[in-house]
Amino acid sequence: MADLVAAIDQGTTSTRCILFDRGGNAVDSHQLEHDQILPRAGWVEHDPLQIWQRTETVVEHAMAAAGVSASDLASVGITNQRETTVVWDRRTGQPYHNAIVWQDTRTASLVAELERSGRGDLIRDRAGIPPATYFAGGKLAWLLSEVEGLREAAEAGDALFGTIDTWLLWQLTGGVDGGRHLTDVTNASRTMLMNLTDLAWDPDLLELFDIPAQLLPQIVPSSHAEAFGTTKAAFGGEVPIGGVLGDQHAAMVGQVCLEKGEVKNTYGTGNFLLMNTGTEIVRSANGLLSTVCYQFGDQPARYALEGSIAVTGSAIQWLRDQLGIVTSADDADRLASTVPDTDGLYFVPAFSGLFAPYWRPDARGVIVGMARFHTAAHLAKATLEAICYQSYDVVKAMEADAGVTMTSLKVDGGVTKSNQTMQFQADILGLDVICPVVPETTALGAAYAAGLAVGVWETPDDFRTNWQEGRRWRPTIDDDTRTAGVTAWHKAVDRTLGWVE
Ligand code: G3P
Repeated sequence: MADLVAAIDQGTTSTRCILFDRGGNAVDSHQLEHDQILPRAGWVEHDPLQIWQRTETVVEHAMAAAGVSASDLASVGITNQRETTVVWDRRTGQPYHNAIVWQDTRTASLVAELERSGRGDLIRDRAGIPPATYFAGGKLAWLLSEVEGLREAAEAGDALFGTIDTWLLWQLTGGVDGGRHLTDVTNASRTMLMNLTDLAWDPDLLELFDIPAQLLPQIVPSSHAEAFGTTKAAFGGEVPIGGVLGDQHAAMVGQVCLEKGEVKNTYGTGNFLLMNTGTEIVRSANGLLSTVCYQFGDQPARYALEGSIAVTGSAIQWLRDQLGIVTSADDADRLASTVPDTDGLYFVPAFSGLFAPYWRPDARGVIVGMARFHTAAHLAKATLEAICYQSYDVVKAMEADAGVTMTSLKVDGGVTKSNQTMQFQADILGLDVICPVVPETTALGAAYAAGLAVGVWETPDDFRTNWQEGRRWRPTIDDDTRTAGVTAWHKAVDRTLGWVE
């Protein structure tokens, strides 16, 4: 049996294809960035067709690099930036509009209206998440009301909605020639439209957002032998698609956080800290989300608590693309390492408002504590520290909800390459920070879900055997220093609030 598994990881800034062997090792990969379209302040869009083209290219290149063909692949897994919303014409495959990205805040007034009218609680109760600009349902409602002809097309059954998993799956399984219109439970749990208990679209939530049911994909488990079909494009032959998971849920699987209480923090465009809560839906009293962790085959779904942070790695991108003070993430790291600390400068990158644990769409970014003495190096350092302080706030919320004190934190994602950032994270949290040998846990988790469906791995216990500790950072600062830093950070956070109506 072919025993390589291909994972497509379609993230906010780039698309990757990684081929994994049975040991969970990355054999070959390819990665391409795509355009960030910023039509006005607070709006973020992607071109869905460009994302699909990039997907085809990274698959072809990764397979060519490994010298493999479709028959060498046992299964394909898809993992994706979540919440980003696409609508397209099933007859032509043409999107009706650019994808509205999860970071986009154009639905702020809709969200405010939901809260004002008291309808926010229905969303909290049924979907496990608060009304927020972050989630797909509001973005879909905006598209239906703003894009001419879309509502009529939706009612006629010609328009399809999907998050990026659904868009890629439809393309991979044939597109206009019979592409499958599906999503998995984890992605569906990010829409404000799915009932978290039933794992089905909730009629009352569809009514609340005025969404025609014909638009919606069918919801299926995250790992399944038949549900997703086989590839008809990109791979040069038919390969079973065995797994689909939102990226943070995939990282939970890749980090083997499969038992109740296990936690990971992924450092990507944003940061996402999840705790497995087993088969129980835990409701947060501290600004965290309840979400589906994963569902393997016909087994009961596992749930998680999640602390989502909108802007972490993308703040480094902002230093590169908007300010032009660094040329890459590595360059930002190098620049930051030229100063011992920020010397009182704090940067809160609340570009999409503040997500967990604050949920303040009215927040905007601030840089405070500046003196003429400060340089670009201090700002680069403050950007890296902001990633850690934001994670600190979420860890504290998670500890309060779970009633436990964490002793270590598993981490993954691009920023874990930065030694100074991970050291600062250990220092500010006062606990050990641990990164596995294979840091590509998101893609690995998608590969695991896909391989599990077809028998590459027999049980999830096989994933645990593959996990190995790579690097560990231990705290080195005293409590007073930590408290002073956190107190100043919270003063800076206060300054972000109330900037936008
Ligand atoms: O919820 C958004 C998240 O899925 C985006 O992840 O890795 O693209 O920052 P990433």
